[in-house]
Amino acid sequence: MRKKITIPDVLQMKPAGRRITVLTSYDFPFTRLIDGGGIDIILVGDSAGVVFAGHDTTLPVTMDEMLYHVKAVRRADPRALVVADMPFMSCQTGIEDACRNCGRMIKEGGAEAVKIEGGSNMAHIIRAVSSIDIPVMAHIGLTPQSVHRMGGYKVQGRKEQAERIREDALAVQNAGAFAVVLEGIPAKLAAEISAELTIPTIGIGAGPACDGQVLVIHDILGLCEKYSPKFVKRYTDLAPLISGAVKQYVDEVRSGDFPTEEHSFS
Ligand code: KIV
Repeated sequence: MRKKITIPDVLQMKPAGRRITVLTSYDFPFTRLIDGGGIDIILVGDSAGVVFAGHDTTLPVTMDEMLYHVKAVRRADPRALVVADMPFMSCQTGIEDACRNCGRMIKEGGAEAVKIEGGSNMAHIIRAVSSIDIPVMAHIGLTPQSVHRMGGYKVQGRKEQAERIREDALAVQNAGAFAVVLEGIPAKLAAEISAELTIPTIGIGAGPACDGQVLVIHDILGLCEKYSPKFVKRYTDLAPLISGAVKQYVDEVRSGDFPTEEHSFS
């Protein structure tokens, strides 16, 4: 029988030495396919703003847009744990807004956990949201919502910055996060943090020693033509297959080869 993956299941994977698999999803059909592949966690990422909606950054993504995606993912009834990403300004304005907005992801969207970007600066928010029984996945290092502070999407935690990332990791664990995404930091630093924390680390551009890995689904399927960061592995190249199918359809409609009797009613 199909067993739904829960927070306690995720928590016991680190001590059991089982690496945690995470992919993003934003809609019903992809969620069915991704869940069928046996993934542990589906992250409804605010990367939807870039790979789905075509923005240059994740900053314009709204609560309503995220709720739309979370509901579509939930309708696929995945076995994987569903984590909803909190968009920019949904949690930054204070504890009350954060609790209300995270609550909407659970109550209206049907998510089972939320993800909040930020380290020591967001620890008070993570503590408040966790304390009302909403499990929080933290996200530190290269946090895309901090693109303007960072001056671009640059690796974080090199040299003297490393201590700040270490402090962020401990701060989010102490605040009650059940897991933490480590994005865009040196592999050695990620390995040290993963060894020090009791909660699982989920890496993206953080080397092989994290307790789990996350990637954006459009990146691994070759559907994102804009850019492909160094940390992405493209497992297939769907873009030419889709373009080829569309071109064939266009040609066949124009030439009269489609539809035929086979596709017609008598
Ligand atoms: O929005 C997102 O997809 C993310 C992951 C890449 C970690 O935050």
